[in-house]
Amino acid sequence: MTGRLCVGLAAAGLAVLLGAGPARAQAPLFTDADLALGEQLLKEHRCAECHARKVGGDGAAIYRPAGRINSAGRLRGMVEYCNTELNLGMFPEDVNAVAAVLDRDHYHFERKRPGGAR
Ligand code: HEC
Repeated sequence: MTGRLCVGLAAAGLAVLLGAGPARAQAPLFTDADLALGEQLLKEHRCAECHARKVGGDGAAIYRPAGRINSAGRLRGMVEYCNTELNLGMFPEDVNAVAAVLDRDHYHFERKRPGGAR
């Protein structure tokens, strides 16, 4: 139920969030992110559990770097949107930390895999 809600809201919200027009010059978003905090928040808010219900496995398949989330800004926007709609109560630096971990582990817009060359 909540899963469906998130899909609909995500679709609607992305249009608003991402409707900001042509990409502005991109400053790195995740340079100062607290990755340990992000990892903790991902567990705390059971992000993967809900995603796994939708896509199976460990839920990671929901993260599709080649999809509509195609920049660090959009990734952070998506996390912020789910934060708001799911009432997770994360602060902006929390959202940034979560997005940074997703970027490091799945999207690689700014952060390469741990140990990889940047
Ligand atoms: C109640 C279920 C639910 C919870 C909890 C949830 N999500 Fe999601 N999330 C979804 C669904 C469903 C989608 C897929 C939307 C779609 O079909 O494009 C999604 C998609 C996403 C995407 C976009 C993936 C992509 O590349 O298109 C991101 C990023 C994301 N979620 C992050 C999070 C984070 C971070 C959390 C925890 C803080 C979280 N979600 C918690 C249901 C959930």
